[in-house]
Amino acid sequence: MKKILVTGGCGFIGSNFIRLLLEERDYEIVNLDALTYAGNLENLHDMKDDPRYRFVKGRIEDEKTVLPLMDEVDAVVNFAAESHVDRSIHSAMPFLTTNCLGTQNLLDCFRRAGRGKVFLHVSTDEVYGSLGKDDPPFKETDKLRPNSPYSASKAASDLLCRAAWKTFKVPVVITRCSNNYGPFQFPEKLIPLMIINALSGRRLPVYGDGKNIRDWIYVEDHCRGVLCALEKGKPGFIYNFGGECELTNLEVIEKILEILKKDRDLIEFVKDRPGHDRRYAMDITLVKKELSWKPETDFEKGISRTVSWYMENRTWWQRIISGEYKDYYKKHYDKAL
Ligand code: NAD
Ligand code: DAU
Repeated sequence: MKKILVTGGCGFIGSNFIRLLLEERDYEIVNLDALTYAGNLENLHDMKDDPRYRFVKGRIEDEKTVLPLMDEVDAVVNFAAESHVDRSIHSAMPFLTTNCLGTQNLLDCFRRAGRGKVFLHVSTDEVYGSLGKDDPPFKETDKLRPNSPYSASKAASDLLCRAAWKTFKVPVVITRCSNNYGPFQFPEKLIPLMIINALSGRRLPVYGDGKNIRDWIYVEDHCRGVLCALEKGKPGFIYNFGGECELTNLEVIEKILEILKKDRDLIEFVKDRPGHDRRYAMDITLVKKELSWKPETDFEKGISRTVSWYMENRTWWQRIISGEYKDYYKKHYDKAL
């Protein structure tokens, strides 16, 4: 494998993944990203002059953009997606366009080019639905029971990948991961939102009773997992990743408040998210055994690093919040746009 097409590389996990690849491997990388509201060139500012890296602005569902790229690469890692559950509740169509049609277009172009060795599709634990408090964690063999338009669109894209493997022997590997946190996460997601609101003295909106449980994984651990699956995964296989770190939303928020030495009074209980999944947890036995992977960063360390990152990178999130980051693009990347 020499050259990899990474889609959605200007988002949270994709940018962390590209940084890891450039730091630890010799691959050439093409980053295809549409620069939606969640895509930010600034996330890879420090990597933009690396001769092994190239950015292409475009959409994964656009055949004219994708097909020529497939003629140059040996592998695909598909991070590109509409990723936020709340947005999917307000408007589902962009999720179907990118997550379903986009994934199918990537699969078709990959197959037509006929040279790729691995098509790695990055998916989520949300495709399995929700667990009761005494249920065992999700396994790769569990049925798909998605509950939100977002998770339904991701489940559909997983099934399109499965069909490409079964019908055409496209060498698809699917990874499914639990909730990521860490640097460069867009401030609509729970952890960055709570850090930024607490730093700004704003209320912390907690949906429902705050006792919904997520399994938290530090983004670098997930990226290392994706890299293991890319290099060692078997075509047609699904690999679950998780942090083995189940916490209620309130526990997460209280930890952030403790680190920032802020008052619990900032918490405000608000109307619950419709269809809100109660609990996620991942069984990661398979990846421990087959890929020799395990999460390395415990929550205590990961959340302290994350809070510090948001404190040290105020301009990054203040630009996003104020919309000024568009000027940043103009100034630094006129040609790309
Ligand atoms: P993100 O929203 O931060 O980034 C998504 C990126 O995809 C953005 O850069 C955006 O510009 C790009 N994009 C969106 N639509 C596109 C299109 N049509 N064509 C090209 N680019 C497009 O998302 P994230 O949190 O980094 O998640 C990345 C992937 O990982 C997603 O597939 C998501 O489902 C999956 N995932 C996320 C988590 C998590 O906790 N964030 C957990 C498990 C799996
Ligand atoms: O589990 C993996 C998934 O994690 C990924 O597939 C998704 O792309 C990613 O967005 C994330 O989905 P969640 O819905 O779990 O993440 P979010 O950060 O939106 O919410 C986490 C929990 O916090 C959830 O129970 C809802 C709650 N929440 C969220 C926000 C934004 C609040 O209580 N208040 C909030 O303001």
